[in-house]
Amino acid sequence: MADFSTRDPRNPAFWDERFEKNFMPWDKGNVPAELQAFMQTLPQPLNTLIPGCGNGYEAGFLAQAGWPVVAIDFSPAAVRSAQAAIGEWGSHVIEADFLTYAPPQALGLIYERAFFCALPAAMRPDIVSRWAALLPAGALLAGYFFFDDAPDASLKGPPFTIHSAAFRELMSPYFALLEERAVSDSIPVFAGKERWQVWQRL
Ligand SMILES: C[S@@+](CC[C@H](N)C(=O)[O-])C[C@H]1O[C@@H](n2cnc3c(N)ncnc32)[C@H](O)[C@@H]1O
Repeated sequence: MADFSTRDPRNPAFWDERFEKNFMPWDKGNVPAELQAFMQTLPQPLNTLIPGCGNGYEAGFLAQAGWPVVAIDFSPAAVRSAQAAIGEWGSHVIEADFLTYAPPQALGLIYERAFFCALPAAMRPDIVSRWAALLPAGALLAGYFFFDDAPDASLKGPPFTIHSAAFRELMSPYFALLEERAVSDSIPVFAGKERWQVWQRL
């Protein structure tokens, strides 16, 4: 196991160090099944943002399918890694902080995987209100959310779990839940605790 000098996931250096040491236990290495199925159900491509994209496989996949997609990450090492991972689609990945990034065009979809759970609980209201600010009424937030409803759920992370009722409460002022299901192809770090969910901006 690699030795790390940074301990605060709110700092890009935390993630730089892990990408540089090739320590990425969250990295799936491919495009998750529910996203692929979900895109097939939509009548047309949506202008999509992927916050905290890491290696950005989904950005490459959507770009290849002709979707307008921008993937952002505030870690320069993550951006370099994504650009190497997705090759010719690398121009869809840019270095930016989700909390301040302003998309050039109105969004139809924000895709979530392992970004919300990468950050400590104190940041959750800011992330949810930023999702809400970036999505016009009717637009979608879809992806993977990491839950633990046990009374003794760990407070340690990343990844940080959230109680499913607490997540619904955070989301309810801004979003309605349209879809929820178990995940068929979780990697070990998320297995049994992640759910695919689609939320619509109110
Ligand atoms: C656990 S990784 C997940 C990466 C990717 N979504 C995946 O599924 O493999 C979390 C990522 O979020 C990025 N990140 C954390 N805070 C961020 C912020 N405020 N703005 C942009 N990216 C951020 C990190 O640099 C890291 O690449």
